Amino acid sequence: MSEISRRQILTTGAIGITGFATVMAVQSAQANTQTPPEPQASVNTDGRFTGKVVLITGATSGIGEATARAFAAEGATVHFCGRREMLGEQIAQSICDIGGKATYQRADVRIEEDVKAFVDGCVEQYGRIDIAFNNAGIESSPSTIADRSLNDWMDVMTTNATGVFLSMKYEIPHMLRQGNGVIVNNASVSSHVGFATIAPYSASKHAVVSLTKVAALEYADKNIRVNAIAPGAVDTPMLRRALAAWNTNFETVSQDYPIKRIVRPEEIARSVMFLCSDDASCITGMDLDATGGYLTK
Ligand SMILES: NC(=O)c1ccc[n+]([C@@H]2O[C@H](COP(=O)([O-])OP(=O)(O)OC[C@H]3O[C@@H](n4cnc5c(N)ncnc54)[C@H](OP(=O)(O)O)[C@@H]3O)[C@@H](O)[C@H]2O)c1
Repeated sequence: MSEISRRQILTTGAIGITGFATVMAVQSAQANTQTPPEPQASVNTDGRFTGKVVLITGATSGIGEATARAFAAEGATVHFCGRREMLGEQIAQSICDIGGKATYQRADVRIEEDVKAFVDGCVEQYGRIDIAFNNAGIESSPSTIADRSLNDWMDVMTTNATGVFLSMKYEIPHMLRQGNGVIVNNASVSSHVGFATIAPYSASKHAVVSLTKVAALEYADKNIRVNAIAPGAVDTPMLRRALAAWNTNFETVSQDYPIKRIVRPEEIARSVMFLCSDDASCITGMDLDATGGYLTK
């Protein structure tokens, strides 16, 4: 297999765990009013993560999976988690089958012991964590605050906010020991503006940005950079579930974003990689607007 086709597969996931991804991509392209760049066309810094160990929470689908594939395509060793074991093992195997390096370890980011075991498991296996992408998250079901159950609130807050706190709590000591590290937390457009009926999601994502700023300040002089990324509408299973719950569609939602299209997970992956690269060596405490202009309105 040629190097280019190996990279294309790693980047797009084309051997796919799922034909579902292909169907989604076709549907997405139909819905978008502007064609986004082909994922593989813009990945032009071959091997820049060779030798780096990258830990990702929630890479069994969506943005996390795309980012795992993108880092592996650029030479990194990827260690990732998620709760769906069969899917996790399949994704890791599919990356390894085409020459990448990836391992899956089951972990639920709501559970402290799981997060510790996952982070420590990476270090036991690979000796270090150069980069951590704390990505795992869930959406809120639509409901007003008065009608929202405490259980529902807690589940979203525990996954999206406490999960990021726990991840950093166990990643940072390894980075301090190493003397360096880079962390990116997955925030959201909802970290900056309110959307009615998704209070737990919005509150949890505001918390992710707060955690990012605090961590950045606490470890700036320890050679650890901490940033967040704020995607807008990205074509993943989460977005599709959310749009179905809100009874809307890609076409309508696209119009809310100045770029007038739904973003591909591979595009978010590349923005994460920028923050993790030496090109961002003096950037810390930022939440990078990857919404396609929504936050500029
Ligand atoms: N898609 C968007 O439009 C959008 C926009 C802004 C921000 N984001 C953020 O991007 C991140 C990824 O979302 P996505 O759109 O890629 O959704 P997705 O396709 O549903 O993927 C979510 C990932 O998180 C994992 N996850 C969820 N709960 C977990 C838990 N308790 N423990 C461990 N892993 C868990 C899931 O794995 P398992 O189910 O196997 O556990 C899955 O791998 C989230 O933080 C989301 O808030 C997404």
